[in-house]
Amino acid sequence: MRKKVTVVGAGNVGATTAQRIHELGYADVVLVDVVEDLPQGKALDMLESGPVLGSDSQVIGTNGYEETANSDLAIITAGIARRPGMSRDDLLLTNMKIIGSVTQEVVKHSPNCILMVVTNPLDAMVQHAFRVSGFPRHRVFGMAGVLDTSRFRTFIAQELDVSVEDVQAYVLGSHGDDMVPLVRYTTVGGIPITELLSQDAIDRLVQRTRQGGGEIVALLKAGSAYYAPSAAITQMAEAVLLDKKRILPCCVYLEGEYGIDGLYMGVPVKLGEKGIEEIIQIRLTEDEQTALNKSAQNVRELLEVMQNSAQSAG
Ligand code: LAC
Repeated sequence: MRKKVTVVGAGNVGATTAQRIHELGYADVVLVDVVEDLPQGKALDMLESGPVLGSDSQVIGTNGYEETANSDLAIITAGIARRPGMSRDDLLLTNMKIIGSVTQEVVKHSPNCILMVVTNPLDAMVQHAFRVSGFPRHRVFGMAGVLDTSRFRTFIAQELDVSVEDVQAYVLGSHGDDMVPLVRYTTVGGIPITELLSQDAIDRLVQRTRQGGGEIVALLKAGSAYYAPSAAITQMAEAVLLDKKRILPCCVYLEGEYGIDGLYMGVPVKLGEKGIEEIIQIRLTEDEQTALNKSAQNVRELLEVMQNSAQSAG
């Protein structure tokens, strides 16, 4: 039997993700959105591409959650997206409400699923979904590091005029302007980039990576990136659906790892059928740890804003 994947949110990120997973052919997809007829229309359109693409995977669209029952994996992309001039944090309280109710519905119908959150501000939204779901931490994680790393790899490959396939990189921390690209672990064909690029060039590429999401928002004007985000989501989905045990940077709940306790942060993990199968701990330099702590502090501040708003509302 094919695996079942629910994608909540039929906007650009959700629909492109559904399309990519359908095209892989080994999972059926349920696309959920509150907008009447929109997920149904997009799903039918995707389904009708199956004969040409050679995919027998089923795609259905729905405005409710009954059809999502017993999903193996649920990917939450619902929420409002950034517009030019907005930071990811500006989305906080609106998306918190959306994530809360979506998570409740998903969990009610698929109590054993793995939950991948994509909505921004990413780290705070995953933490909220984790709390609402009541799931163990290995079944709730967020997508950000694979996207940030992919951007960093793209810029390095361009700079050196080499294949993207030969560039390995790590970006840790929160999915924001203070993410932590780990230059020491970034290599091209196994060679550290510090041997291939000047410090000035590295700093420039790191800065572009940090602002990579904003660069796309400024160009698109209405909405944020979705081709690279959906590719990153699909790589993580594939690691789960095929039990690949890939080593990827994911946003996970830390309980003392990296000196951080009770907080979602991007770190390298082993991703397989069970979700987060291992949190991989690497030794950081003092500067890297300081940068990671700063990143964590910013997420804590967002959590506080969310807590205060929940208190004043409740
Ligand atoms: C980005 C948004 C989606 O990084 O967070 O493109």
